[in-house]
Amino acid sequence: MKVAVFGASGMLGFAVCKSVLRRGFKLFVYSNKSRVSISDNLESKPLPFSDDDKITRELFDHWPDAIINCGAISSPDEVNKSIEYAHSVNVLGAYRLASIASHIGARYIHVSTDMVFDGNMSPYRSTDMPNPTSVYGAQKLEAEKKVLSVTEENLVVLRVTLLNGNSPRGRRSPHEKILQALASGSKLTLFDDEIRQPCSVENLADVMVELLERPNLNGLFHWAGSEEISRYNLGLRILERFGINSDQIIRGKMKDNGSNLSKRPSHLSFILEPLVSKVRTQPLSIKQQIQELHVPNELYSWYREFADDPSCYIPRF
Ligand SMILES: NC(=O)c1ccc[n+]([C@@H]2O[C@H](COP(=O)([O-])OP(=O)(O)OC[C@H]3O[C@@H](n4cnc5c(N)ncnc54)[C@H](OP(=O)(O)O)[C@@H]3O)[C@@H](O)[C@H]2O)c1
Repeated sequence: MKVAVFGASGMLGFAVCKSVLRRGFKLFVYSNKSRVSISDNLESKPLPFSDDDKITRELFDHWPDAIINCGAISSPDEVNKSIEYAHSVNVLGAYRLASIASHIGARYIHVSTDMVFDGNMSPYRSTDMPNPTSVYGAQKLEAEKKVLSVTEENLVVLRVTLLNGNSPRGRRSPHEKILQALASGSKLTLFDDEIRQPCSVENLADVMVELLERPNLNGLFHWAGSEEISRYNLGLRILERFGINSDQIIRGKMKDNGSNLSKRPSHLSFILEPLVSKVRTQPLSIKQQIQELHVPNELYSWYREFADDPSCYIPRF
């Protein structure tokens, strides 16, 4: 199978590329502006979603059997800074890829988010009514609708939750943000009333690659880890994994912290049926997810000095 991955320089796209290579498929990889090395002889090719002609030409040249879209402006704060640009990426870019995929008969896998829900009725099924509270959530919902309108066949929209894992630049995931903040001398406040159901990015990548070979599974599905946890408790589990004292993060409450936060859903979790009983890949516990986490290379010397007990950290590669 020939697979084209967009957003390959991002946290999820990078993990998807590794999983596609492990499966033995041929890979074409695209990013926005950056070039990220995927393997010894494969680097992501810059190809912004705004460049319609080049994207069409590239996909017609290679005629892949599947297209996976992990490209997005994925931070709600970044979306708020540049709403129109984010719309062109999160909605129009996703729709364009879905249309080309349908035209060339390629399977299309698109990634969406739990932020399409307001958090008042967790756990959510994929059939529950969305009600986004942020511009990011609204754009991702619009993208879902547009992508699903292209075809009912050969297409999956997978909503996913907060992602744990190792990103190519070491700055994207919850543990990387905590370690980066500590290395720069600040402490993070994490909320014990903000509940999520985090997902391992590698496990998600594996289920997406499995879906490439399951043409009978089409439409909108949910994927996550197997457990809920508060952002604060996740922070504590991360500090424990790296042998860092728990007083390095501050326990807060969303409800006591300003009007901006009132728009953030306080409780997001998913019911994983029907997908979970149809696939071989199974969701991971928080413990399994935490074991996969690494100290980003650029922080390793700092970490050896800073950690209370660096001997707890045994990297699993
Ligand atoms: N991370 C999470 O916790 C989380 C949770 C739920 C859902 N999701 C969803 O999962 C997907 C992947 O998220 P992520 O965290 O892996 O994102 P990420 O790390 O921010 O990566 C985003 C990717 O999109 C590319 N991109 C950005 N602007 C682009 C443009 N104009 N044209 C083409 N490519 C562009 C980036 O390329 P450059 O590096 O070159 O800019 C990068 O490869 C997204 O759909 C996101 O909404 C993520």
